[in-house]
Amino acid sequence: MRILGIETSCDETSVAILQIKNGILTPEKNLVYSQIKIHQKYGGVVPEVAARRHVEKIIQLVKSLWPLKIDAIAVTAGPGLATALLVGVETARALSHLLKLPLIRINHMEGHIYGNWLEQKLDDKKIFPALCLIVSGGHTELILMKNHGRYKLIGQTRDDAAGECFDKVGKILGLPYPGGPLVAKLAIKGNPLAINLPRPMLDSGDFDFSFSGLKTAVLYYTQKQKNFNTADVCASFQQAAVEVLVTKTIVAAKKYKVKTMILGGGVAANKSLQEKLSKAVKKELPNTIYNPLNTEYCGDNAVMIAATGYFHYLKKDFTPWQKIKINPNWELI
Ligand code: KG4
Ligand code: ZN
Repeated sequence: MRILGIETSCDETSVAILQIKNGILTPEKNLVYSQIKIHQKYGGVVPEVAARRHVEKIIQLVKSLWPLKIDAIAVTAGPGLATALLVGVETARALSHLLKLPLIRINHMEGHIYGNWLEQKLDDKKIFPALCLIVSGGHTELILMKNHGRYKLIGQTRDDAAGECFDKVGKILGLPYPGGPLVAKLAIKGNPLAINLPRPMLDSGDFDFSFSGLKTAVLYYTQKQKNFNTADVCASFQQAAVEVLVTKTIVAAKKYKVKTMILGGGVAANKSLQEKLSKAVKKELPNTIYNPLNTEYCGDNAVMIAATGYFHYLKKDFTPWQKIKINPNWELI
């Protein structure tokens, strides 16, 4: 079977076709149009501008896949920017009505989790319970996944998201938006021990995070030191952020006795995070860790939405086209 995925929650307009054969989820098409260039001049995403661009782009993308040979439509309904989400949901509504196909309403965070099911068959018996660390531009969450569709939020950021913090540090250093990938790239050449930065909430005794103090510490450092080394700032900042994420994830994995760990979201593309987390897992736990197989599946894309749609399709979890609604603050749990 085939599922059409639609994703417009932020600044990526994406449509995808996922083929499912013998339980293997194979992306046939994953079209991702990034609006980054448009938002760069504002230093961040402008919701109204994003929505207008989604409108202009989405029909073009859907048209390029025409005629659609699909069995269902999965669309992101939240969380995200209201005006942006509406474009994807209204497109999905029209297609569902026109083609008389079931419509599946997807939570974007669940989409980031299911990015891990693309092209790799995960055995339900071996993976649950799993601990998911979802790190993106808008969220930083530790989610206990007991089974398909069964989640418990065990920790989250109290202020900035991890990706947002990478982006703000990028901005402080004068890098273009989004700073995350550039900070990661510059960090390779820097000394992670050069600057002493805080590890906020490392020993807080819960699984919440806080990144805004870390960003402020970077800001003060750069204001105080006129001739700082940008690569050293990137490396020291990345080291601090990754250390907090990895340490808390390992403690949570031990406490909840999970079988596997799942990494997802834009920041999951960060090599230092991937390496440090898998090293810590190898050293301290008997667990297996999964990253999306392809970094393309870490950031926002519609094929992860289609993958999530497949697991809802199996439960016939459909929403009539007349009833589908966005929820910009949709919590997974
Ligand atoms: O999941 P995503 O594409 O969008 C949201 O749902 O927010 O995540 C985007 C975030 C941005 O903040 C971006 O800077 C960050 O992921 N990011 C990275 C890396 N690649 C993307 N952060 C650190 N290291 C990277 N390699
Ligand atoms: Zn995302």
